[in-house]
Amino acid sequence: MHTLVVNGSPVEVDAPGLRSLADVLRGDLGLTAAKIACGRGECGACTVLVDGLPRTACTTPAALVRGEVWTSEGLAQESADLRARFADTGAFQCGFCTPGQVVHATALLRGGLADLDPDERRACVRRAMSGNICRCTGYQAIVESVCGVAEDRVAEDRVAADRAAR
Ligand code: FES
Ligand code: FES
Repeated sequence: MHTLVVNGSPVEVDAPGLRSLADVLRGDLGLTAAKIACGRGECGACTVLVDGLPRTACTTPAALVRGEVWTSEGLAQESADLRARFADTGAFQCGFCTPGQVVHATALLRGGLADLDPDERRACVRRAMSGNICRCTGYQAIVESVCGVAEDRVAEDRVAADRAAR
C-alpha cells in the first residue's frame, strides 16, 4: 500500500508497479473528473496538480507520488469563478477536456498572470496550456475565460486593498 494525500486528506491506495495515478483516482477513489483520453501524456485531459504543479495523471505512477494531489473535485471552490466563466462563454462543448483545462488554469491563476499586460497574459495562457488539447472549441473562449478571471481577481484585490486602506 502507498499513502497519497488527495484533496487534503491522506488515503491508502493499492499502487503496484507502474499503476497510474489516474487509474487510482478514478478507479479506487471515485474521483472521475480527471479523464483518460490518450492515456500517454499527450492531451492533458487527466491533468491534476501535484504539489501545485500540473501533471498528467495517466503517465504518473501513483507509487512515485510524494506530493499533495489536487483534482478538479478538490479545486471546485477555488475554481468556481473560472468554471462559471467557462459556462458563460461557451469555453467547452462536449466538456471532456474541461476538468483538465480548469485544473491547469487554476495553477496558472495562482501564479504571475496578474502581473502581465493583457497581450502577455493571453500568450502565457496559450503557451502554458498548449498541452491541454480540445477537440471541440477553437481555444479562444478558453483563453479569454482564464484571462478574464485573472483580470477580475486583480480588480477584486484592488477593491479589497482600497477598503483596507480606508
Ligand atoms: S489522458 Fe493523460 S494526457 Fe491524455
Ligand atoms: S470541449 Fe470537447 S474536447 Fe474540449
